[in-house]
Amino acid sequence: MGPFTISLILISITAVLLVWRYLQNNFTYWRKRGVPYVPFWESFLLSSTAMKKINIFEFFEVFYKALDGHRFGGAFQLVYPIIIIRDPELIKTVFIKAFSNFYDRNPPQDEKGDVFNRTQIFQLTGEKWRTVRHKLSPAFSSAKLKIMYQTLSGCAEDLNAHLQTLCSETGQTEIDVKELMSDYTMDVIGAIALGIKCNSIKGENSEFKQIVRATFKFDQRRTIFATLEVIHPKLPRLLGLTSQLPEEEEYLLGITREAIEMRTDSESSSRRDFLQMLMNLRSQELQQRNENPSGEPDEPVFSEDILVGAIGSFLSAGLEPVAATLTFCLYELALHPDIQEKIYLEIKETKGQTLNDISYEDLKKLRYTEQVMNETLRKYPVAGIMARICTEPFKIPDSDVVVEKGMRVFVPLFSIQRDPQYFPEPDRFDPERFSEENIQKIVPGTYLPFGDGPRSCIAMRLALLDVKTMLIKMVSNYTLYPCARTQRILEFDKKLVSLNPASSLWIGVRKR
Ligand code: HEM
Repeated sequence: MGPFTISLILISITAVLLVWRYLQNNFTYWRKRGVPYVPFWESFLLSSTAMKKINIFEFFEVFYKALDGHRFGGAFQLVYPIIIIRDPELIKTVFIKAFSNFYDRNPPQDEKGDVFNRTQIFQLTGEKWRTVRHKLSPAFSSAKLKIMYQTLSGCAEDLNAHLQTLCSETGQTEIDVKELMSDYTMDVIGAIALGIKCNSIKGENSEFKQIVRATFKFDQRRTIFATLEVIHPKLPRLLGLTSQLPEEEEYLLGITREAIEMRTDSESSSRRDFLQMLMNLRSQELQQRNENPSGEPDEPVFSEDILVGAIGSFLSAGLEPVAATLTFCLYELALHPDIQEKIYLEIKETKGQTLNDISYEDLKKLRYTEQVMNETLRKYPVAGIMARICTEPFKIPDSDVVVEKGMRVFVPLFSIQRDPQYFPEPDRFDPERFSEENIQKIVPGTYLPFGDGPRSCIAMRLALLDVKTMLIKMVSNYTLYPCARTQRILEFDKKLVSLNPASSLWIGVRKR
């Protein structure tokens, strides 16, 4: 055996020993710290095999149950230790009080990665996130929402017209509510984000619809991408993998840039979509800079990247959750005629005899409708696992455990919102849980469908407005009922990271 071969063998043995030591350190991480945990092999087997059999919510449910009786506990994601927070008070601490220790959701993105991935608000980190969030928040002010309500009502009316046609012969029809709500939200987000009329409800299978759906669907490609990102944010690029197909990214970048270029001043004044709001913000910033060229601005000007990222964020975060929430809600209403009737009476009372659309101001009066929406988001929290990453070491109150910088923290919200300890008979759809009298009884930190603290959903009010507008339109014009094809037990899609029915969801609708 020559010296070269001997060196090679020694290097290989050293490498194997180092890897083994690293893994050994990780696997014994929680035991050494005296923290209750789900052992590596269990976490590993679950993540590698069960992921195809159960969805991510059920997967975290296993962790949640294994750590029963504990405020928090350890588990593993791939080979890395992670922490699961179960205690509502501790959840509030992580999301709000100790926010500066848990600033981000993931490590900083690869600066050379694809545009939509590295610029989305959801993924941004540190100061960059703070700047963008601060700049985008005014896009969801009450005044802006009031304007958006007109767009939402218009899209809901398109859906109504479509259903009227389907019901024209017999006064009733059966609908795949999942498909229909997905079309509705596509029309809404196209109009609200870019001022595009997609006409999905009218059956147009536009390029925009096809590409947006494909781009932001969490398919196998994105699962692989996300798994590699957990190992290192740069790894996907080094392996030549992008989160979106290059042609999809090009298309979306193209239409956003084209929309920016095509807007002339005269045309812009009448536009009311997000893109226009963002462009107005950019002009204001540029003007301020020109007026005060010597003063260094605190934050960078709204770059094209940030603008594109914001539009990408709205397209990716705005479609699935609203469509799924509406789907679940209409499904539950079809199964609960009494609840449906109460909504109908409330709407009728608010509208009076006119049966015109409800004004933006009057929407607030629909208290019971809101209870139904809240209960839908309780039973079906579409973003049911929340994540943070530790940005500064944090000592967990009333314990000796220190969460180290870089540790991933997960809150299994789906399990918490279905825990009988907090919500008795969790499988029962009961809007009374949110009545004025009962809402006080909800333990803070156990109902967070939009997250909590400075990093909660930026568009919560828009999302609720969107859901409410469609609910009103459906319930005031149709009676929903279960038909022969309606499933009594819902299965959730195992491939997605958000909660969604596994297949088509049929219900009957009858004209009122
Ligand atoms: C019913 C519908 C929706 C639900 C249930 C929902 C829920 C959530 C949740 C749970 C988060 C994470 C919060 C956290 O980590 O604390 C989030 C973040 C976010 N959502 Fe929503 N969302 C909905 C609709 C929308 C819509 C319509 C948009 C955009 C038009 C949107 C944009 C965003 C963005 C940009 C973030 C990231 C915020 C940040 O990191 O600062 N969401 N959403």
